Amino acid sequence: MKILVVGGGGREHAIIMKLAESPKTTELYCAPGNGGISRYAKCFDVKATDIDGMVKLAKELQPDLVVVAPDDPLVLGMVDAMQAEGFKTFGPKANAAIIEGSKIFSKDLMKKYGIPTGGYEIFTDSASAIAYIKAQNTYPTVIKADGLALGKGVILAQNEEEAVEAVKEMIDNKKFGESSARIVIEEFLTGPEVSVLSFTDGKTVVPMISSMDHKRALDNDEGLNTGGMGTVAPNPYYTEEIAKTCMETIFKPTIEAMQKEGRAFTGCLYFGLMLTPNGPKVIEYNCRFGDPETQVVLPLLDSDLVDIMLATYEGNLADIDVKWKQESAACVVMASGGYPVKYESGKEIAGLDDKGQTAGVFVYHAGTKFADGRFLTAGGRVLGVTATADTLENALAKSYKAVETIDWEKVHYRHDIGQRALAAKQG
Ligand code: AMP
Ligand code: GLY
Repeated sequence: MKILVVGGGGREHAIIMKLAESPKTTELYCAPGNGGISRYAKCFDVKATDIDGMVKLAKELQPDLVVVAPDDPLVLGMVDAMQAEGFKTFGPKANAAIIEGSKIFSKDLMKKYGIPTGGYEIFTDSASAIAYIKAQNTYPTVIKADGLALGKGVILAQNEEEAVEAVKEMIDNKKFGESSARIVIEEFLTGPEVSVLSFTDGKTVVPMISSMDHKRALDNDEGLNTGGMGTVAPNPYYTEEIAKTCMETIFKPTIEAMQKEGRAFTGCLYFGLMLTPNGPKVIEYNCRFGDPETQVVLPLLDSDLVDIMLATYEGNLADIDVKWKQESAACVVMASGGYPVKYESGKEIAGLDDKGQTAGVFVYHAGTKFADGRFLTAGGRVLGVTATADTLENALAKSYKAVETIDWEKVHYRHDIGQRALAAKQG
């Protein structure tokens, strides 16, 4: 099979490496891809959000499967456009991707179907929102832009001033354009966070191995929110008992709810969960694989990803046995200094071989360019250095050992990826 993967980050690199393991795969294409991906798949310079351009590329390449990985093309309807041309796809149609594309849609869905999540109100004018915040007078409070906002649409306001500022920025100053014309003000939840990605064909839902993201830029969860500075899998807080509860109260009800709404979700549905003192609750849904969650989850998959992806399209996921390795995985993200705010690109990366690798681990490329036999930085998050091992401790040790062999000017990474998970295991 010829397979086209849309996207160009660490997540797409991880998807491509897993697809490459399948005996069914004959050719791998990626658009736009990146330097690291280009060593394993033929890359094409088409933007992930360019629906017409991507359809045109698909018509030229005639892939047997198109995997749409990032959120924006999914929300914009790339899967619909590919299917209209007769291509098989992995990923939800636009009417289902809205589960990530509109926080108001997802909150209302959860309310309607009794799926546990934080209490909330919706606002379209700042005066009412501010009056509500003052009347509630409870902090922290959570303010979310309705639409996609490059992962920056969530503000955890510590006091009235911050909350009022966030509301004004989003609604009055249109910080995220139409995405923040409507906002959700949400109850602040506490507890360990767990990411659970799942495969679904719209009827059957198969959760993948759980993982833990590290969203803050600096050690000890300090600094700004990022796309994710590292991940580990499995997540030790996510016990078998909690997994059962989530299946009955969240996973199945969500899939059924989407079906009842005439929006059957196919592809990867990501459940962002908070294990609160009152049980697991949904913080957010994503309509796609997480990044960098995918870099620790897919290496532990012990089944053929091509078969699974085709089954989500054909609607026979129930017939597939999805197996996992009994190991742990750790991914340490190496980023450009200054990320997620201002950073430089084009720095030569030392310590990688011509496949973009270093010994003992797998290096997923998130933002690199390959030119004249050298890898250059080309983004905020640059590499995801990933190891699997019998224990989490060993996986982390392998990852960090490899991280120390890679270097560039102003490289930045967290030194404490997995420490909370290790403490939870021991506690
Ligand atoms: P998101 O951009 O939706 O992934 O949210 C970013 C982060 O904000 C989440 O990973 C949580 O850590 C935090 N968050 C979102 N909603 C809530 C909430 N209701 N209560 C507490 N923290 C939250
Ligand atoms: N790592 C979080 C996300 O992919 O949204």
